[in-house]
Amino acid sequence: MDEFAQHEATAPRVFIETYGCQMNVADSELIGGVLRRAGYAAAAGPEDADVILLNTCAIREHAEERVLRRLNDLARFKHARPELRLGLLGCMAQHNRAALVEKAPWLDLVAGPDSYRRLPELLGRARFDPAQQAARIDVRLDRYETYADIAPAHEGGVRAFVTAMRGCDRFCAFCVVPYVRGRERSVPPEAILADVRQLAARGVREVVLLGQTVNAYRFGDADFGRLLRLVAAVDGVERIRFTSPHPADMSDSVIEAMATESKVQPALHLPLQSGSDRILAAMERGYTVGEYLSLVERTRAAIPEIALSTDIIVGFHGEEEPDFRATLDLMAALRYDSAFSFKYSLRENTRAFKLGDTVSEEEKGRRLAEVIALQERISLERNHALVGQHFAVLVEGPARRGGGMLAGKTPQFKTAVFGAADWIRPGDTVTVRVESATGHTLHCALV
Ligand code: SAH
Ligand code: SF4
Ligand code: F3S
Repeated sequence: MDEFAQHEATAPRVFIETYGCQMNVADSELIGGVLRRAGYAAAAGPEDADVILLNTCAIREHAEERVLRRLNDLARFKHARPELRLGLLGCMAQHNRAALVEKAPWLDLVAGPDSYRRLPELLGRARFDPAQQAARIDVRLDRYETYADIAPAHEGGVRAFVTAMRGCDRFCAFCVVPYVRGRERSVPPEAILADVRQLAARGVREVVLLGQTVNAYRFGDADFGRLLRLVAAVDGVERIRFTSPHPADMSDSVIEAMATESKVQPALHLPLQSGSDRILAAMERGYTVGEYLSLVERTRAAIPEIALSTDIIVGFHGEEEPDFRATLDLMAALRYDSAFSFKYSLRENTRAFKLGDTVSEEEKGRRLAEVIALQERISLERNHALVGQHFAVLVEGPARRGGGMLAGKTPQFKTAVFGAADWIRPGDTVTVRVESATGHTLHCALV
């Protein structure tokens, strides 16, 4: 239990539930930091909370539906305890704004990603003003807000997320992020380093630098390559990762930092989205298949042991069978270590919204299944090829399936599972040999 949870019994208790990407995980820790400073304590669960906050995602319709169902669930706590305050934060708050209060009238608070500094005040008013009927809504975006001065309430663990930049200026035609997160802004290096030093002092061994286009980081003279080197110079930090880089922002400076700084791990998530130039142009992704291929070539040449992962969208507006085939062909040629694939989901406000859907739900499902099957096969083949090899694994703790096994990650961010030994602690790095593999796990033996 951290300091956040150790306030006196009288402090109001807050429970935060997080949806969406790593940036939301980091934001929930930031919200924890803001509220701790204002005298709130952490609740163990929704049952014993005075305030329940959902930090939400708007990336696909499915993500929003899930949160609406959860809100309906939580309404029953509110019936039993009318003084309970229920708030919806994050990207969905920004995306739906007042419409949310119509769908969930029992909401007390709706606040977007740039409003977290004002949460104590917003909650205070929602809490103590009995005459107040309507929910507090605060969804002002602020192109300068980086929360650089606020210490997040980090969860314990071997790995921690550190926000390096907020927002996105790319406006890919399908994507809601620039609208819900606002303009791109980088956190000052000193603030990032202060956070990283504190994490290292608390025993965190691996930091993951975050941003929607994290490699577009720029603060004064410091670009992302420079930031990687600055973080690598912090004692105690052993491994550095980052997500998500954008292919068009992948400069030589970043590739060089990855190749030469041994702490920067050989794993790169490089969202492709589509293997068809026509669709990439319609998506306004800012690169062609040829440019993407040459980037992969340069990266693999500079960092031969690198693992690559990607994101794929199937069924975007205008995607015909040959476009889809081009995506499959490219995936088969590039042989990613893993891939996340999604059915295109039409998002209000985005540039592609007015174009509508041209691919049926059923056809999207068929294409998705094909992409997943192809990637599973490739992931399995790639992992099988690792049998017999040795890897340094940063130990996280007991394996999810238990059975006296420990789990951790290889430098390539593959999950390694191996038999426990009583001298091994979370945060240790051990050498293992791969004995067998599935598409998702390396089964290993200690060396
Ligand atoms: N900033 C990252 C992506 C962040 S969103 C990048 O540009 O590389 C994570 C993934 O969600 C995207 O890569 C994309 O594959 C998927 N996604 C985003 N919007 C979507 C939509 N409207 N429908 C389906 N998938 C979407
Ligand atoms: Fe969305 Fe594109 Fe920005 Fe990624 S780069 S967050 S896909 S707009
Ligand atoms: Fe979702 Fe917001 Fe992340 S829309 S993917 S939680 S930036």
